[in-house]
Amino acid sequence: MGILAGKRILITGVITDSSIAFHVARVAQEEGATVVLTGFGRMSLVERIAKRLPEPPPVIELDVASEEHLATLAERVSAHVDGLDGVLHAIAFAPQDAMGGNFLNTSWDDVSTAVQVSTYSLKALAMATRPLMTGGGAIVGLDFDASHAWPGYDWMGVAKAGLESTARYLARDLGAEKIRVNLVSAGPLRTMAAKSIPGFDKFEGMWGDRAPLGWDITDPEPTARACAALLSDWFPATSGEIVHVDGGAHAIGG
Ligand SMILES: NC(=O)c1ccc[n+]([C@@H]2O[C@H](COP(=O)([O-])OP(=O)(O)OC[C@H]3O[C@@H](n4cnc5c(N)ncnc54)[C@H](O)[C@@H]3O)[C@@H](O)[C@H]2O)c1
Repeated sequence: MGILAGKRILITGVITDSSIAFHVARVAQEEGATVVLTGFGRMSLVERIAKRLPEPPPVIELDVASEEHLATLAERVSAHVDGLDGVLHAIAFAPQDAMGGNFLNTSWDDVSTAVQVSTYSLKALAMATRPLMTGGGAIVGLDFDASHAWPGYDWMGVAKAGLESTARYLARDLGAEKIRVNLVSAGPLRTMAAKSIPGFDKFEGMWGDRAPLGWDITDPEPTARACAALLSDWFPATSGEIVHVDGGAHAIGG
């Protein structure tokens, strides 16, 4: 019996087989979960990638910036599962002008896109799936440590700081329904989103040196396992928390 046996989990954010969400979906299935994926934009690509999972799951379309997609999400998920026990938020996007050292000149248009897709979407997704989480459950999001200013990360860093706060407010407001809301703050991993951040290679180099446990930018397994654990019944009294899966780097100064 896996730690997610009998759990019904909605997983957003799969675009390639290096997506963190792809590995969470794989680990979740290995641990006994029934998984439904959402895909954004390139649906035929997401469907092709979904077939590489141990059990190819259904894929439904979700643009978190679309009111219509959000309003119909619960109904469309219900075609595949009779409720949800967990939801993974693995979504982030910022226009190129919002990253890469252009912090002082980024327009509000670009900042607002980053914040809508990367921050507000956690609340939007929680509300869209709430009708399906009648027995309580777990919402888990992916964070990148927002307690420092990083090279090049810029407004995405601000969006992540907002995500951390959003998770705490959601934990406050959904706790009465026994819905836990937590984030996994991962070290740098080589994914499509990471490649779009100008200068991301600077993090990659420094991380392994800082992390007491070391850090492999090509290994999403530790992050995926932490997400699976938080989606399971093994963190029953944890909410509003940020679990760092970064080789211990966040704890080390200098
Ligand atoms: N890769 C890293 O180093 C790293 C580290 C810490 C946290 N994270 C976070 O992990 C999460 C997943 O990113 P990843 O690194 O696996 O990259 P990825 O490119 O594989 O995933 C990003 C996903 O966001 C989706 N997305 C973008 N705009 C969307 C929209 N409007 N509606 C719905 N989905 C949308 C994309 O389709 C894609 O699937 C992100 O929140 C990211 O910030 C990544």
